[in-house]
Amino acid sequence: MRLLFLGDIVGRSGREGLLRHLPELQQRLSPDFVVINGENAAGGFGITEKIANEFFAAGVDCITTGNHVWDQKELLGQIDRIPNLIRPINYPEGTPGRGYTVLPSKNGRYKVLVMNAMARVFMDPLDDPFPAIERVVKVHRLGGPMMGPNGVHAAILDFHGEATSEKMIMGHVLDGRVSLVVGTHSHIPTADLQILSGGTAYQSDAGMCGDYDSVIGMKKESAIHKMTRKTPGERFTPAENDATVTVCGIFVETDDRTGLAKRAEPVRVGGRLKQAMPE
Ligand code: FE2
Repeated sequence: MRLLFLGDIVGRSGREGLLRHLPELQQRLSPDFVVINGENAAGGFGITEKIANEFFAAGVDCITTGNHVWDQKELLGQIDRIPNLIRPINYPEGTPGRGYTVLPSKNGRYKVLVMNAMARVFMDPLDDPFPAIERVVKVHRLGGPMMGPNGVHAAILDFHGEATSEKMIMGHVLDGRVSLVVGTHSHIPTADLQILSGGTAYQSDAGMCGDYDSVIGMKKESAIHKMTRKTPGERFTPAENDATVTVCGIFVETDDRTGLAKRAEPVRVGGRLKQAMPE
């Protein structure tokens, strides 16, 4: 099975960059299933149902989020009717939405588990993500129908966090039991994409889809001002130069029988960063 995961979509330029490059990625990589992190899609802060529907119409199968999930408050009232938009699983009990979902692939042949959790180091900490994810992977086991009625052909975790160490720990904890553990939130693609010893593809951060002539997607002037002047400056808004937008992510090919990764390649197209496209 062929999986495409793209990192945090930041603002208008990130959304348009995704819509501009996704057709080419679909043509060249023929993914059976596409996941994106959408938590910065609405002006850099949050996501709405309307934006999510634009992504779904473009061929995205599932959207993950993170600490900015509720920045557009209207989503609180919308998320329960959007089955393929998920929020971190470790929010307090009773929070709207869901932390994981099982969805069919485009061709209907595969069942895919997508999970979203928030890391805690250097973050506003939620509940412990490790037991929360453990409970899901114990029920939805990798290996398809051989694993019973809840078996899945592929399993993906978007682990949204700051510390690469915490994300690597999650990768090792789940190694051999999911297809892909990928970090988001730091908006910079890390160079550690690998297949762990148990067969799980892993990268500490997929990188954002947004304008890289910026500070993690936001206009650099306001970020520089805040850091160096320590006085109120302009509100943070996404950088918007389409010429420096790079769409970043990972392409993973799994073994249909085991659900584990056979191949993991970086994807970087458009604009600023050095390009990477699987053969
Ligand atoms: Fe985030």
